[in-house]
Amino acid sequence: MSKRIILDCDPGHDDAIGIMLATSSSEIELLGVTTVAGNSLLENTTRNALIVLDMVGRPDIPVHSGRNAPLVRELITAASMHGDGGLDGPVPAHPSRSANPGSALEFIENILISEPEPITLVATGPLTNMADVVTKLPHLHNKIEQVVFMGGAIGLGNWTPAAEFNILVDPEAAAMVMNSGLKLTMIGLEVTHEAWLDDTHAGQLRGQGACEEFVAELLDHFVGFHQKRFGWPGAPIHDAVTIAYLIEPSLLTTLVTNVTVETQSELTLGRTVIDLYSVTGKTANVEVGTGINRDAFVTLLMQHLLTLS
Ligand code: RIB
Ligand code: CA
Repeated sequence: MSKRIILDCDPGHDDAIGIMLATSSSEIELLGVTTVAGNSLLENTTRNALIVLDMVGRPDIPVHSGRNAPLVRELITAASMHGDGGLDGPVPAHPSRSANPGSALEFIENILISEPEPITLVATGPLTNMADVVTKLPHLHNKIEQVVFMGGAIGLGNWTPAAEFNILVDPEAAAMVMNSGLKLTMIGLEVTHEAWLDDTHAGQLRGQGACEEFVAELLDHFVGFHQKRFGWPGAPIHDAVTIAYLIEPSLLTTLVTNVTVETQSELTLGRTVIDLYSVTGKTANVEVGTGINRDAFVTLLMQHLLTLS
């Protein structure tokens, strides 16, 4: 029985690879893609989602755009990492279609109403759309099996010393999600920083078909950025880990504990505070990824990507 999901994202190179992994797996039924501002402006993340679905031959999958800014703060983007259009590297393309009419929230609501069984929401961008689901669809929370999100960290951040980008962009939204009572799985930087690909992986994909070539061009940009900016061997494919986890949960080690989000401090805004040693006595509200079988992840991801064309 494949896992029926909606993917909320801000493509973004690693979001794009996450979409491609989801559509390549028989374990996943991608009911729709919703977009949010984050890596780039909403118009770009939406266009990029449409382009990626064209690339994998799935223009049938609905795309609905959501929030174009965080709940209460000014939008910050990751143009330095992903480029002004959000998907630098491949030759710019034009989507074959526009986004579907209706907002991300309306689409999610309709799916939650119409699906016979609870579905999984996957979020790989700022949690602004997810906060809307929490606050505006309380009557449908019983139709949400779980929310699997890429964001946060047990230790240091990647956009500030304290905060990971997705949580930093909309810390208020993230706090609402943590306090929602929904079943939550957090895929943070301790996990995703092990989930990197490098030039050798791009080389294995090149020449294997149009989709694989597209991924290789994404990696050329994304790996190059991380080699220059951080001196790392490769680029963490953060968002694809959420999908890989749904395909094979045993890839990850996890701990169920209390997670809260800093929304006040200027110095540590957006920090996810993980009660690793259960010292607070607070509710264990999130299953937190603490480690990943890197080799098994890379094998799973590459095997799926090499089937795309
Ligand atoms: O910090 C990594 C996250 O921020 C990923 O989701 C990446 O796409 C960016 O959105
Ligand atoms: Ca993302």
